[in-house]
Amino acid sequence: MAADTNDTASAAEPAVHSTGSRPTIRVQGATKSFGGRVVVDVDDLTLGTYAIEGLIGPNGAGKTTLMRMIMHAISLDTGTVTLTSNDNGGSVILSNLPTSRMAERGVVKTNQVITDFEQLTILDSMMLPVAQRSDEWAFKIRNEKSLYAEHVDEILWYLDQFDFEDPYGFANSAGEKKLLDIIRCLLLKPSVLLLDEPTAGLPDEVRDHVMELVKQKATDENMAVVIVEHDLHVIWTMCEYVHFMAEGSVVLQGEPAYIRDHETVVEQYLGSGHV
Ligand SMILES: Nc1ncnc2c1ncn2[C@@H]1O[C@H](COP(=O)(O)OP(=O)(O)O)[C@@H](O)[C@H]1O
Ligand SMILES: [Mg+2]
Repeated sequence: MAADTNDTASAAEPAVHSTGSRPTIRVQGATKSFGGRVVVDVDDLTLGTYAIEGLIGPNGAGKTTLMRMIMHAISLDTGTVTLTSNDNGGSVILSNLPTSRMAERGVVKTNQVITDFEQLTILDSMMLPVAQRSDEWAFKIRNEKSLYAEHVDEILWYLDQFDFEDPYGFANSAGEKKLLDIIRCLLLKPSVLLLDEPTAGLPDEVRDHVMELVKQKATDENMAVVIVEHDLHVIWTMCEYVHFMAEGSVVLQGEPAYIRDHETVVEQYLGSGHV
C-alpha cells in the first residue's frame, strides 16, 4: 500500500480556523487489515486543526474504518490515536481506552448505518445522552422526572427546531434516524464530533439546517468536526480543510478548492465534468 504523501496545499489560510482551544486528534502508524487485506494504513494524520474538516474518498477507501479506529470501536493492528486538548496541552491515548470511554473524553461519532432507535422513543433517545453527559445514571434511575425537568428546555428546543411531530413515538424514516443520531451526538456536547455520512436520506432543507447548527457549534463552542460525506455540496460548503483518502491512506490534504481541482481527486473520485 502506498505511503502517505503528505502533499499539503500551501495556499492562503481559510478565514475561520482554530482559536487555540479546539482539541486535535493525531493518528500515527495506524493500520487495520480484514482477512489479510490492509484496508487502513495511515502514517500520520492530524484532525481538528480547523473547525470543520472533510474526509472524502471513493467507496471502500477506509473512511468508516478509520473513524471506527479513532473511536476504538475496532482494534488497531498497529499504531496509536492521541487526543490533545489545547486548553491544557494534555494528551490521552484514545487507542488505549475502550470505546465506551470516548464520550467522557468529548469524542463522539454518528453512525453511517443507524441500527438503534427501534426500541427508544424520540424523547428517550434525547434523554439518554443528556443523562450520560452529566454522568447522571444513578440519578436517572432514582429520579427520571427531575432529570427531565432540568434539561427539558434543551430537548424541547431540538424537538421544535426539527419538527418532530410526536416525541413519544419512534423515529420512522432513515432520514429521521440520521437526524436523531446527529442530535444525540450534539446533546453529548462533544469537543470532537465525527460525522459519518450524516446527511444521507435527509431532505435538503433539513440537511442544511442541521449542518448550519453543527457549523455554529464548531465555531462558537470550539468543537472540532470531521465530516465523511459523499454529498460533496456539504464538503465544499462546510469544510475549511479536506483530507482525501484512497486505498486506506490519506493521499492528499488541503483547502476545498485545492482538493476539488486536484487531478488525483478528479481521476480517482470525482470523474471528469464534476462541478
Ligand atoms: N468488518 C469488516 N470485515 C471485513 N471487511 C471490512 C469490514 N469493514 C470494512 N471492511 C472492508 O474495508 C474496506 C474499507 O471499508 P470502509 O472503511 O467501510 O470504506 P469507506 O467508508 O471509505 O467506504 C472495504 O473494502 C470494506 O469492504
Ligand atoms: Mg463508509
